[in-house]
Amino acid sequence: MNTMTTTTDTTTKPAAAPAGETVLDASGVTMRFGGLTAVKGVDLQVNSGEIVGLIGPNGAGKTTFFNCLTGLYVPTEGKVSYKGTVLPPKPHLVTQAGIARTFQNIRLFSNMTVLENVLVGRHTRTKEGLWSALLRGPGFKKAEAASEARAMELLEFIGLEHKAQHLAKNLPYGEQRKLEIARALASDPGLLLLDEPTAGMNPQETRAAEELIFAIRDMGIAVLVIEHDMRFIFNLCDRVACLVQGEKLIEGTAAEVQGDERVIAAYLGEPFEGAPGAAEAAEVEAAEQHAAEAAEADASAEADAPAEDAAEEAAEDAADADGQDDDAADDADTADEAGTDAEPAADADSTTSKDGEAK
Ligand SMILES: Nc1ncnc2c1ncn2[C@@H]1O[C@H](COP(=O)(O)OP(=O)(O)OP(=O)(O)O)[C@@H](O)[C@H]1O
Ligand SMILES: [Mg+2]
Repeated sequence: MNTMTTTTDTTTKPAAAPAGETVLDASGVTMRFGGLTAVKGVDLQVNSGEIVGLIGPNGAGKTTFFNCLTGLYVPTEGKVSYKGTVLPPKPHLVTQAGIARTFQNIRLFSNMTVLENVLVGRHTRTKEGLWSALLRGPGFKKAEAASEARAMELLEFIGLEHKAQHLAKNLPYGEQRKLEIARALASDPGLLLLDEPTAGMNPQETRAAEELIFAIRDMGIAVLVIEHDMRFIFNLCDRVACLVQGEKLIEGTAAEVQGDERVIAAYLGEPFEGAPGAAEAAEVEAAEQHAAEAAEADASAEADAPAEDAAEEAAEDAADADGQDDDAADDADTADEAGTDAEPAADADSTTSKDGEAK
């Protein structure tokens, strides 16, 4: 990647930005389609040396956000900057500036060879245009050798050099995804956007993709990646942002986002307003309290009994208590859903704590 150049005023900067530099700065990005707001005021930064994850349920606006970053859509509101320069919303200018992407639905030239697909990705970095590259005109011939060498390097990097002359359409799905990455890298980007790079991959291919993305980061390319595979995301990313219904719900380290109840709820489909984890926590608390009370009652009632008997009884009571608490939890849930203060027949104390925490 030492040969990276850009055609904007960033040419004087090294492609690998100094550590900590803001590579991508999206602020207040909003995208409306008629009455539907697919992306609502999203701010997101990606710094050099970072792999940032973008997660969220289906339809959350992740791909739409990518489309706003790459000039495919003109955002209704907001601004996107790359290394301090505001990007015009035109895909080819965005690519020239240094942002490359892959697509959720693979977009390869299926009847072209693997090598040709990578060469197409290089056309923004050669003086010759796309048509010259495709038609192999005289101007292209001059740059051809250098471009091919670079493309072969990239194919080696993704492990597909032995299939350079195969038609793209004959590659298995996982390899097509890797080829898309090689094609994106061919434009010598400083930021790579990956939209579900492991969709359709088996677990081994997914692990390999993870290594590939780490290697890309180590080449000095910042990465923003959309994925539904949480294990992949949390292994890979320095930071993760979660979109829900077009809005950024949370952004933080993998650990912070992974443990956030609202994120879990968003994925499980529960309403995320009002601390969805509270009801569960209250349930556990109530069960513990109930078991403790039962054990206490037994201890005083059977003070004279031999120790072994008391232990057996306590175990039985604990089992009973579990059953009762399930009922109590159901009752409490029903009360919560109905939005009433109705008290379930079971333990009034546990109900109070449930209501108290769930609201
Ligand atoms: N061109 C468009 N015209 C109208 N609505 C659109 C358009 N593109 C996306 N949408 C809508 O915007 C919302 C967000 O879609 P988007 O594809 O960005 O979601 P996503 O987070 O990428 O979902 P997935 O995980 O399924 O890929 C959806 O309701 C979708 O139907
Ligand atoms: Mg999508």
